[in-house]
Amino acid sequence: MPRVRIPLQTKSKPTKHRLGPRRKRTDVRKTRVRESGLIGSSSHEEWKERNHYLVHADAYDFLPTLPTNSVDLILTSPPYWGQRSYGMQHNWEILSDWIALRTPGIPTYEWYRENGGVLGLEPLPDWYIAHLIEIFELARVPLKPDGNLWINLGDTYFARWSSIRDNGRQGLAEEERFRRKTPMGGYRQEKQLLLIPSRFAIGMQDRRWILRNDLIWHKPNVPPRPEKDRLKLAHEHFFHFVKRPKEGRAKYFYDLKQAETHATDVVTYNVQPGEDEHTATFPPKLIEPRILSSSPIGGVVLDPFCGTGRTLLVAAKNGRKGWGCDLVASYALNAKQAFTENGSNGEA
Ligand SMILES: C[S@@+](CC[C@H](N)C(=O)[O-])C[C@H]1O[C@@H](n2cnc3c(N)ncnc32)[C@H](O)[C@@H]1O
Repeated sequence: MPRVRIPLQTKSKPTKHRLGPRRKRTDVRKTRVRESGLIGSSSHEEWKERNHYLVHADAYDFLPTLPTNSVDLILTSPPYWGQRSYGMQHNWEILSDWIALRTPGIPTYEWYRENGGVLGLEPLPDWYIAHLIEIFELARVPLKPDGNLWINLGDTYFARWSSIRDNGRQGLAEEERFRRKTPMGGYRQEKQLLLIPSRFAIGMQDRRWILRNDLIWHKPNVPPRPEKDRLKLAHEHFFHFVKRPKEGRAKYFYDLKQAETHATDVVTYNVQPGEDEHTATFPPKLIEPRILSSSPIGGVVLDPFCGTGRTLLVAAKNGRKGWGCDLVASYALNAKQAFTENGSNGEA
C-alpha cells in the first residue's frame, strides 16, 4: 500500500456517488433484518412476551428494529480492533477506495459496510472507534432512560505489519493468520499501545453518555508473550455507561449489593477456553454480577454482539429476558441451540 496522508477529522458525510440516491436508512435496515427470515413486524404485546430472542443480523440493522425504551441492560463485547475476521470477507483495499473519493473525514459505517468493510478490520483505529460509537448511538433508543450499558473492550498494540486471526483469542488458538500493513502517522507508531478503549470511552462521553465505571478485568491466565521489552497485557476494560438526562443527574437502576465482595473496580477472572470455535467468550462469573446489579428481575438484557450467547444464557439463568444478534450465522444458530439445550424456548 502506498504511503498516504490520512485525514484525521472525525465526522464525514457519506458520498452520494457511492451510496446512490438517498434512501430511508431505517427502512432499509429493518428490511435487511426481516429478510434474514428471523424477524417479522411485531406488536407491542409480542415484544413483551419475548423471553429469548436471537437473530442473525448486523447490530447496526438489528438495533433500530427494537422498540423504544424496551431494554434494561445492554451488556456486550464487540469485535476488538485489528485482531480477528470471524471468518468474514473483508475489502483490504478499502482505505485506498475511500482516499480515491477525496472526501474528508471518516466514512460512515453504512458506506464502509457497503464497500466491503468488516467491523473490527477498519484500516485505521479512528475509523473503528467512529463506527463503534455510531452503532452504540443506535442503542440509545431501545435502552430505557434508567437503563445500563456495559461494554467490554480490549486494547491493541500498533504494528505497521500486524497479523489478523480468523478466530481465536490471542495465543489460545493456533491457526492461520493474515498479515496486513497499516499506515503509520500521528499516534500510530510502532510498539504503541493504542489506548483504543480510552479513546472509545471519551468519544462516548462526547456524545452525552455518562461513564460510571471503567471496570478492569484482570486476566491472570493470559498466555506467555515473546516481547522482552514490556509487561504482558493482562487486563481488559468493562465500561459502564448510563444515559445523560436532559436535566439533572443521571438516575438508573443499580443494585450495588450484587457486585463482587468489596465492590471495587478491579475484578479477577480467568480467560476461559471458548465453545463452538468461538474463543472470545465471556466468563459467566465476569458478567453475572453486572447482570444482577444492572437489570431488574424480569428485565430485558440485550447483547448485540452475542457470539456464543453467554450473556443471554446468564441473563436467562437469573430470571431476565435475553435478546441478541450476531453477524455470523453459525454463531447465532449455535447460541440458539445452547438455549434449547438449556431448556429454553428461544426463538431464532
Ligand atoms: C468479542 S465477540 C463476542 C463474544 C461473546 N461475548 C461471547 O461470550 O460469546 C464479538 C462478536 O461480534 C460478532 N460481530 C462482529 N461484527 C458484528 C456486527 N456488525 N453485528 C453483530 N455482530 C457482530 C462476531 O461474530 C463475534 O461473535
